[in-house]
Amino acid sequence: MNNIYLKEHLIKLPKIEDPRGNLSFIEELNQIPFKITRVYWIYDVPGGQSRGGHAFKEQQELIVALSGSFDVILDDNLGKREYSLNRSYYGLYVPNLIWRSMENFSTNSLCLILASTHYDEKDYIRDYHEFLRFLAK
Ligand code: TYD
Repeated sequence: MNNIYLKEHLIKLPKIEDPRGNLSFIEELNQIPFKITRVYWIYDVPGGQSRGGHAFKEQQELIVALSGSFDVILDDNLGKREYSLNRSYYGLYVPNLIWRSMENFSTNSLCLILASTHYDEKDYIRDYHEFLRFLAK
């Protein structure tokens, strides 16, 4: 896979503009560099709550603000980066081994996540210090 995919990056998705309403799409291994194994979404987030707060050993993902807005905070040994997602035709590609959390969800926001793996609790690193130790290996 091309090196560009080793770091997180925003992907502009196709947007078919139409007076009847716009349309965007994602195809595995085309707009995104992995096979889509799982799709999940986060919604009805009460004001002030945050989600995430973990890293994945293997899972890569694409995060899309299908509706509303929220911030994705990424952290690893390169430091902290923050991405504000608020357009349904942009996705944030997040490779494995990045600590990520999501916060500042707007009312009625809808966060779609396309994941490269099935759900597996063993793939999670939920302790930040364990994550740092894992990176140092
Ligand atoms: P989790 O990924 O920990 O959410 P967050 O990091 O945003 O708080 O998932 C929350 C719970 O949902 C956890 O108990 C596992 C369960 N879950 C599944 O069963 N399947 C899934 O695909 C996901 C993403 C979570």
